[in-house]
Amino acid sequence: MNKLCTYLVGLSALLLADCGNNQPAVSATDTKSPTAASLLPNPDNFRDTVDGKTTGLYFLNNGKLAAAITNYGARVVSLIVPDKNGTPTDVVLGYDSIGKYLHQPETYFGAIVGRYGNRIANGKFKLNGKEYTLYKNNGPNTLHGGKKGFGAVVWDARKLDTSTLQLTYLSKDGEEGYPGNLTVTVTYRLDSSGLRIDYDAATDKPTVLNLTNHAYFNLNGQGSGTINNHLLQLTADHYTPVDSTLIPTGKVEPVFGTPFDFTKPTTIGSRINDTANQQVKFGKGYDHNFFLLTAMGDDSSTIPSAIATGDLSGIVMRVFTDQPGIQFYSGNFMQGTNPLKGGKTDGYRTAFCLETQHFPNSPNEPLFPSTVLKPGEKYHSSTQFEFTAK
Ligand code: GLA
Repeated sequence: MNKLCTYLVGLSALLLADCGNNQPAVSATDTKSPTAASLLPNPDNFRDTVDGKTTGLYFLNNGKLAAAITNYGARVVSLIVPDKNGTPTDVVLGYDSIGKYLHQPETYFGAIVGRYGNRIANGKFKLNGKEYTLYKNNGPNTLHGGKKGFGAVVWDARKLDTSTLQLTYLSKDGEEGYPGNLTVTVTYRLDSSGLRIDYDAATDKPTVLNLTNHAYFNLNGQGSGTINNHLLQLTADHYTPVDSTLIPTGKVEPVFGTPFDFTKPTTIGSRINDTANQQVKFGKGYDHNFFLLTAMGDDSSTIPSAIATGDLSGIVMRVFTDQPGIQFYSGNFMQGTNPLKGGKTDGYRTAFCLETQHFPNSPNEPLFPSTVLKPGEKYHSSTQFEFTAK
């Protein structure tokens, strides 16, 4: 049997083992598959009670791809795709137990980030003349929602079918300082080409909202070393430069002639240490929001916002989004201190993030696309991570 067949047989075993109910699926290790299924964590390690709510691990599969998602932070724990030889490859970093998600230093692996993804300057913003104060968890600023963002709360999970999981969370008025009762639904679906994430929300008071997923990707496989040799292309000819605390200056600048020019496929590492460039210096590498051209028209579903390729695996990831920005973070704070699935570690720059989003600090930047959500409005956005191999 060739490698691709082995991969598909493994996935069908998992499909048969998955009852499609609302409970975490049977243990991947209970199935007959030694391949894709054997890469998935044991759901027993995710059964716990956090803040009085039950946590678990949910498996999705569509005969081609497999994913494991926990309702703690609505996190993508595993995402398994075939590489150029058909070998199942887990392309996202994650932990193999709920305990590690709760206690290890890196707190954003695979998480849904909210109520406001990325930074808000000085932990303050004004809305309709009233000032709101947030918790400063990142130097002088608020990062990824504050002290306890959406990645650190337990969501209600409902499996809609074998390839779809819906997660809902009610963020109460005043939670982390944000106004309005906000109901958020995140739907993960494995379709024929990849992982689609739909975000829906509604509020009962005007609020600000910036939702994203914080998957850490290594397309050669999680824990398999540097991402410096991955190729990256971004459909962005402008980006938002930052100050030394990573707050956008408010300017939108062209990428041409700078290390931020990814308009053609370029290895991530080729200019990452160009600290003669002050922006690279401030970011300690790449940690910047790019202004997506795909947001300018109706092309977001047909033109990828980003394309990344694993140099060893040949896995190609195309990102499609309706969001105006993408935060490209090159793992500059990674220190090898987090124990990943399969006994691997998360060394310096061994993963990258492509967080589809509104621009950081938009609530304080009137010229950036608005992140205000009003009562009666329906928030919807979607992002698709599509995988092929060559
Ligand atoms: C985002 C931020 C980075 C870093 C990571 C999480 O990408 O912009 O500065 O905080 O999240 O480690």
